[in-house]
Amino acid sequence: MKQKIVVYNRLEAPVLHKLQEKYEVHFFKDINTKTDPDFIAHLAGADALIGLELPVDRELLDHAPNVKIVSNVSVGYNNLDIDELTKRGIMATNTPGILTDTVADTMMTILLSTARRVPELDHWVKQGDWEKMIEVEHYGIDVHHKTLGIIGMGRIGEAIAQRAHFGFDMDILYHNRSRKPEVEEKFNATYCDLDDLLMQADFICLMTPLTPETTGLLGEREFKLMKQSAIFINGSRGKTIVEADLIEALQNGEIAAAGLDVFEEEPVHPDNPLLKMKNVITVPHIGSSTWETELKMSELAAHNLELGLEGKCPPNLINKRVWEMQK
Ligand code: DGY
Repeated sequence: MKQKIVVYNRLEAPVLHKLQEKYEVHFFKDINTKTDPDFIAHLAGADALIGLELPVDRELLDHAPNVKIVSNVSVGYNNLDIDELTKRGIMATNTPGILTDTVADTMMTILLSTARRVPELDHWVKQGDWEKMIEVEHYGIDVHHKTLGIIGMGRIGEAIAQRAHFGFDMDILYHNRSRKPEVEEKFNATYCDLDDLLMQADFICLMTPLTPETTGLLGEREFKLMKQSAIFINGSRGKTIVEADLIEALQNGEIAAAGLDVFEEEPVHPDNPLLKMKNVITVPHIGSSTWETELKMSELAAHNLELGLEGKCPPNLINKRVWEMQK
């Protein structure tokens, strides 16, 4: 009998088809995972779960007693209750590494577009407002030779620093759980405590994973510390900031602009005031979303899942204790 897999939200088609040859596969998208009866029924016999942003908590796991591995098609795993999975001996995996350059490209795209007001001016041209030469009110802000503050100097933070330092001659400040001498050397980066970074940077790029420690990391106080000319970029998760406080900071002119890939609620609610602000650029959580990288992420997530189901150690095991307990 084939093993059973529940796929949630995203797995690229070629990878899904391959899994379908080997396993019994059930695909779910845009459902309420707490209440959808079909989804809950399929959890009962599932050997593995794979997908994007599936909230895996105690309640879901109670419905899924046979699950051996939960494979995230993302590097972030704030959707997984790792302690609960570990307690139950269930492996959890993610897809680090292969998306690093793509996400860094996305962040530079958002940063540049926000500074140079690309979406706003694109809209202005397309709606036929370009009737005479532009005025000062259409000017943007230089990016090159400015100071970039990166909060969260993981792999992606480093790739952003590389682009900013070598490509745009930017000065790099960073804040991280631990200092990284090799980053300081490679990119001439300066380690700062959070407040200093917020006060000094022209561009602030938030890249931390969402954890209990980073939830609401930036709120009213932190936005007030930023320069009035600062541009804030969020490429982490919506809940790493207090979104209402960002809205207020923008409304009060405490910072100049924001470029956002992530939101407290996703999809973002159409009434969210951020969507009405000209100086805010929004994209729908596209950090890693290119054809090439999404396919690689799906392949890696499927590889993790297959190894886990074969009783082998997947390369991207998050809760290594589960493997140690099995040995
Ligand atoms: C991730 O992999 O965590 C990214 O946020 C997905 O875009």
